[in-house]
Amino acid sequence: MESITMLGSPKNLSETFLPNGVNGIKDNSKTTIGIIGSGDFAKSLAIRLIRCGYHVIVGSRNPKFAAEFFPHVVDITYHEDAVAKANLIFVAIHRQHYSSLWDLKRLLAGKILVDVSNNMKVNQYPESNAEYLQSLFPEAIVVKGFNVISAWALQLGPKDASRQVCYVYICSNSVQARQQVIELTRQLNFIPFDSGALSAAKEIENLPLRLFTLWKGPVVVAVSLATFFFIYSFIRDVIHPYVRNQQSDFYKIPIEIVNKTLPVVAITLLSLVYLSGLLAAAYQLYYGTKYKRFPPWLENWLECRKQLGLLSFFFTTVHVAYSLCLPMRRSERYLFLNMAYQQVHASVENSWNEEEVWRIEMYVSFGIMSLGLLSLLAVTSIPSVSQSLNWREFSFIQSTLGYVALLISTFHVLIYGWKRAFEEEYYRFYTPPNFILALVLPCTVILGKIILLLPCISRKLKRIRRGWEKSQFMEDGIGTASYPSPERITVM
Ligand SMILES: Cc1cc2nc3c(=O)[nH]c(=O)nc-3n(C[C@H](O)[C@H](O)[C@H](O)COP(=O)(O)OP(=O)(O)OC[C@H]3O[C@@H](n4cnc5c(N)ncnc54)[C@H](O)[C@@H]3O)c2cc1C
Ligand SMILES: NC(=O)c1ccc[n+]([C@@H]2O[C@H](COP(=O)([O-])OP(=O)(O)OC[C@H]3O[C@@H](n4cnc5c(N)ncnc54)[C@H](OP(=O)(O)O)[C@@H]3O)[C@@H](O)[C@H]2O)c1
Ligand code: HEM
Repeated sequence: MESITMLGSPKNLSETFLPNGVNGIKDNSKTTIGIIGSGDFAKSLAIRLIRCGYHVIVGSRNPKFAAEFFPHVVDITYHEDAVAKANLIFVAIHRQHYSSLWDLKRLLAGKILVDVSNNMKVNQYPESNAEYLQSLFPEAIVVKGFNVISAWALQLGPKDASRQVCYVYICSNSVQARQQVIELTRQLNFIPFDSGALSAAKEIENLPLRLFTLWKGPVVVAVSLATFFFIYSFIRDVIHPYVRNQQSDFYKIPIEIVNKTLPVVAITLLSLVYLSGLLAAAYQLYYGTKYKRFPPWLENWLECRKQLGLLSFFFTTVHVAYSLCLPMRRSERYLFLNMAYQQVHASVENSWNEEEVWRIEMYVSFGIMSLGLLSLLAVTSIPSVSQSLNWREFSFIQSTLGYVALLISTFHVLIYGWKRAFEEEYYRFYTPPNFILALVLPCTVILGKIILLLPCISRKLKRIRRGWEKSQFMEDGIGTASYPSPERITVM
């Protein structure tokens, strides 16, 4: 067993027992960290602590049995012994078993208890697990933390290349205890996030239970648009020829109809990304300040632009894959042969149509350029890449190049539509073709952006974003400094 230098309770909390802490102890191996429980989390945590040079003592109901699962350098003992020998103790058991520690109440007085527990459901109990633990042991100092880290993430070595950036949210009513756990978090190669008082524990406990929170809205929008445009194209391109000429075009459903749906959804989602920024700008211009809070729907919309953008990228790449498959199909070959046969019958030797050639060359080229730019946006949204860029570089790619991508995509669709927008046969059942609908939002967004770029408007907007406020707004006294600057971007 390795030497244990710090035994019993600290006389006061400013007496730190962590290495490199206030008292400047550098050697981790002299610091004992206690863990109550010998389950998955306890095992992984013990391994991580040992790798970072700490001495670990585990308290178990059955130390003999538990010892088999831990490295030999870990001390496995009974709860009483472990609690007596460490000042910072991780409580790695489930909330339902907290009351089983009741007999340790006296020993736990003055010790730091790190509550790592999670629940099965959001807001499962009226109070957080950490607050419950604090109420059971009022003389101990409870710190909430490490619950957002999985046992698997703990087992990866601190220098493991596949390790993700892991934030650990920490809160406690004791500032000093919080600082000590924050310091320990750094030592274990995680990024601590000070969440303040213990009342924040409920929010922290809900974090691992969230399921795609920011994705829900964008996914619902994407699925609704896809459903609408699929039905729309089906009625126009399959039902219409069937009703009018008894022509069966049902073979179009798997590829052609899908490839009429995907790109419209892609360009609409891309426009929605930039429409929210325009509405934010219009709001700021209208109220003459950047300190007035956006309405909740706009705030939520702004926050999920990354997800909308990535979904747009997804739909675009699938559209491209479908488009590349179009000429490979058997139906396309039959249509091609039939056309050639009819041409021979009509004695047409050369069917070269210069305008059609240029149309297709141009729209495909614009499509490829836009895909290239969208790929760049997608790559820079990867955290490790975005972290290597400064704010200006990231904003240039996301905002300026994003608008360029939208503009080029719009050209792609405009040229694809070409003169067909003015031909009656494309208005089946009196409905406009897909590409007309696809152009409505991007054209609106591009027009809005052009208006914002007009010198008189852009100058005013720049002043507002630098903190200038309309004087009348100041006189009204509507919350000025009370709101944080909205100049922020969601980098995830
Ligand atoms: C493939 C792809 C990947 C993307 N990845 C990301 C990504 O990783 N991160 C990301 O943020 N976006 C991402 N986006 C979305 C988009 O590219 C960016 O949000 C872009 O910065 C929007 O530019 P903008 O000029 O419209 O708005 P901005 O210049 O960002 O904002 C306009 C104005 O709106 C206000 N504002 C902006 N955001 C907020 C906010 N959250 N709260 C309050 N006010 C706000 C500010 O006043 C700001 O000046 C991605 C898009 C695509 C297509
Ligand atoms: N696993 C993860 O990835 C993870 C991630 C974040 C947070 N957490 C949290 O960490 C805590 C432990 O999770 P875990 O996955 O390690 O659970 P686990 O594998 O089920 O282990 C729990 C431990 O609690 C002890 N225990 C069981 N019944 C008990 C009882 N009636 N009275 C007292 N102690 C009892 C046991 O240790 P002894 O037999 O040695 O006493 C057992 O090994 C939980 O609060 C969980 O929410 C886990
Ligand atoms: C490599 C890149 C691209 C290629 C090869 C490509 C190819 C095509 C093709 C072949 C069509 C015609 C489909 C048909 O005949 O039914 C088309 C249409 C279309 N494309 Fe693309 N495209 C690309 C990128 C993009 C991008 C980036 C967007 C927008 C985000 C986009 C949006 C559209 C739209 C809206 C249509 C019209 C759909 C319709 O009305 O049927 N495309 N594209």
